[in-house]
Amino acid sequence: MEREEALKLVSEYIKNENLKKHSLAVEACMRKLARYFNENEEKWGLCGLLHDLDYEETNKNPEKHGIRTIEILKEKNFNDPEILNGILAHCEKKQPENNLEKAIYAIDPLTGLIVAACLMHPDRKLKSLDVNFVLRRFKEKKFASGANREQIKKCEELGLSLEKFIEICLLAMQEIDNQLGL
Ligand SMILES: [Fe+2]
Repeated sequence: MEREEALKLVSEYIKNENLKKHSLAVEACMRKLARYFNENEEKWGLCGLLHDLDYEETNKNPEKHGIRTIEILKEKNFNDPEILNGILAHCEKKQPENNLEKAIYAIDPLTGLIVAACLMHPDRKLKSLDVNFVLRRFKEKKFASGANREQIKKCEELGLSLEKFIEICLLAMQEIDNQLGL
């Protein structure tokens, strides 16, 4: 599958603008991290872009989240097992085992924390944030409490400190700040 085709699927299945932006943010972080680890950037990017494809359909049935995306992709004859397993791992339908699976699992909540941190910054601009600003928000337990800190900290299983992980993902999101509207 090419990125163009994946983007079409995102437009078809995801109507909420913030969820579309979230998909782009996770894609950007996955690509950046793939490059950092010398992994397959296209593959990691597609996994990020497609990971929440079924969210609007399954948000009242979280047990179906992820599973339904796999069905949709298989109907389109898209069968890349690494990408499909990454999608399952992000929503705990599979234990994260390899780097791709651990990456998407930890990135998913971090993008939300970074967006929330950006919105409370006086400039409301991603480019005004630095790692320490995000790290301080991370440590405030009540801030953006939906962004699961334990899940984000799984970056350590990739051999990344929390600081380094935030640095890579923040940079990835800053590079698409126009698309994210931040
Ligand atoms: Fe997500």
